[in-house]
Order: sequence, then structure tokens, then C-alpha cells
Amino acid sequence: MSKDDKPLVDLDDFPATRTCTYINAANVALMCRDTERVITAWYKDVAENGSNNFNEAAEDAVFDDLHQAAARLFHATPPDIAVGSSATELLSSLAWAVMPGPDANVVSGADITFPAAVYPWSRVARLTGCEIRLAKAHDGYVDPDELANLIDDQTAVVCLSHVEFRSGQRYDLSAYAELAHQHGALLVVDATQSAGAVPIDAPGMGVDAIVTGAYKWLCGPFGAAAMYLAPPLQTSLDPGLVGFRSHADMWDIRADHLTYADNASRFEFSTMAYGCAVGLTKSIDYLVDIGIDRIFTYNQSLADAIIVGLETLGADVTSPRNPNERSAIVTARFPGQEAADIAQKLKDANVRVALRGDVVRFSPHLYNRLEDVNRVLHVLASD
Ligand SMILES: Cc1ncc(COP(=O)(O)O)c(C=O)c1O
Repeated sequence: MSKDDKPLVDLDDFPATRTCTYINAANVALMCRDTERVITAWYKDVAENGSNNFNEAAEDAVFDDLHQAAARLFHATPPDIAVGSSATELLSSLAWAVMPGPDANVVSGADITFPAAVYPWSRVARLTGCEIRLAKAHDGYVDPDELANLIDDQTAVVCLSHVEFRSGQRYDLSAYAELAHQHGALLVVDATQSAGAVPIDAPGMGVDAIVTGAYKWLCGPFGAAAMYLAPPLQTSLDPGLVGFRSHADMWDIRADHLTYADNASRFEFSTMAYGCAVGLTKSIDYLVDIGIDRIFTYNQSLADAIIVGLETLGADVTSPRNPNERSAIVTARFPGQEAADIAQKLKDANVRVALRGDVVRFSPHLYNRLEDVNRVLHVLASD
């Protein structure tokens, strides 16, 4: 951040910044104004005109545009992208497609990982008998070596949440991709807490699949999500969720045959909240145009200011400090005070953060400014 606290974006792009101090992107980020506009326009048009304007070509364009935007986000190409309704939905379809067998294990993050990256594999495990392995976190921190040591030659999948929702801990995806591949396993990543705020070069990192929802750091809506799938998987996997849209030519509507597309879009299977998909496209383009690396650096500087301020106030910062393991998520305890009381105090002062277990979670994003951080610290310091 520059010395004069110049925001990275025009705050008019995020009207909600005018009405509250919102440091809660890890829960739901503020939505870009233009994203809200295109979503509203889409629903209004269908409400008033049915499919008169939203015809087959328009429906295809929704998917094509989001494929292109998500490809920019993940440094991939449009055929590498599948569109869905949520990160969980895409991960579930993927888990059934991979379906690790009875002799295999899935290293599915840690016991503090958001369950979206775990439950889909657990469900498959109940059918096939594969083993689910979770690293044990120590006071919220996952030792990367302990996690790595769970991976062996029977590991079929390593599934990580790129950034842990509760602590902000970020994993080195390239390192885990290399390790997973050494053991013949896939690296699947839930990027819901990183996409839009952390640069991700999916092919460059060697990730096999990566999914993200829209409503956190991507500043998009509920109801849309995207997945990157590495080329070898695009023709080999049989998706877990299948429907009329699964057919390579979805307009060839016949019940007696199903041929998948030879790309990631084979994971698209039905109608969806198209207006939300249009919104996600808008949000991704907005963020990528700014530059995810710039957003990352900017958010880190806000997180730095939060950490310094919290420590000055005597708080115990619990999120990782190592530059290679950090994200913009900062978590803290306040000795002698309940985290819930701290969160309530901030809420009463119209400052929005999150309570996660016994820590308060701060998650600044590109629409925040140093002024917001100072406001948080001022409220915390007051009686
Ligand atoms: C890491 C992570 N993954 C996934 C989700 C939920 O994603 P979705 O609602 O798209 O299924 C969350 C929500 O908090 C999350 O933190």
C-alpha cells in the first residue's frame, strides 16, 4: 500500500465500503458493483422475457465466457475449465469420478480443513473402503512435513485447501504436486480461500484439479463455481454427477447415448444459476485486470498492519507468520477476553469480522484501506 493509503480500487466499485468496515472476505467478500449489475440485469431479463433473449446461443455464451475468465484466473486454457454451482458440488463430482479403491488412501488435508475438501472423499470411502487420512493440527497449525509424511505409494489423492479457512495457513502447491506425483497420486485443491487473492498458476504448479466458489475472495455471487482440470484427466474421468448437459453436444438431446466432451466441460451436467455465472465472469475479469499479484501484495500489507496493531494491543496472533505460509487471513486470541465478546464489540461498532472457534478472524481484501485497519484497532483499544 502506498504511504498515502491509496486504495487499490475505486471504492465506488464496492458501495458497501461506505456503510460499514468490512474485514470479512474469508466469509463472504463484498461484491463488485458491476457484478451485482450484470446479475440483476440477467434475472430481470429472464423474468420479463423468458427465453426470448436467453436463447441457446446465449446459454452457451455464459459457459464460454466463464471458461475464458477462469482460464485467465488459473493461467490455463478455456478447455481446462468446468463451471459448476459450488466448490463442493465440483469436488463431489470429482471424488466420485476418481473413486479411490479399497487399497488406496486419500490424504485429505487436516483435522481443521474446511469439510468441503474432506466429506466428498469420506462419502466415496464409505462405498469403496479407501482410507481417509487427515493431518493433526497443533493449535490450528498444520506442520507441512507431518502432512507430507501421510503420503505414500497407496495414496491416490492428496486434497488440500490451498488456504485453511480457520488459520489462513497457505500450502506450497508446487511442492505437494511434486510429492503427490512421486507417489502416483493426484493433487486436488480447494482454492475457495485463495482464488482471487493469491496468484495461482495451476498448470505451472502441476496441480491436477483445482476448484473455487465465487463468493469469497473472487467478490462474486453464491451459486457459481469453477474448476481447472489438468489435460490428462479431461478425457479419462467419468464424472460423478451426470445430466443432459454432460453430452458433448448438449443440444443433441437424445436419451439413448451419452458421449462426454473431450475437455473439462464433461463435468458440466445441468442448468444452473446462469445469472450467477455471468456475475462470476465479471468478478474474475475485474480482479485479473487489476492483477492477482498486486492484490496479494496489497492484502498482505493490510494484514501486516493488522498484525502489528493487534500485537501492540497485546493480542496473540495465531495465524502463520512465515511469508511462504501466510495469506491475508489474520487470526488472533485476546488474553483474558472471549473471542466472541471481541467479535461482538466490533460488530456493535459496525466493524465486521468473523468468529471462528476461539479466534477472531480478520480477512481484508482489495476494497479495504489502512483507514479500515485503524478503525478496527481503535475500536479494540476503546473501553
Ligand atoms: C475452504 C473452503 N472451501 C469451500 C467452502 C464452501 O464452498 P461452496 O459453498 O462453494 O461449496 C468454504 C466456505 O467457507 C471454504 O472456506
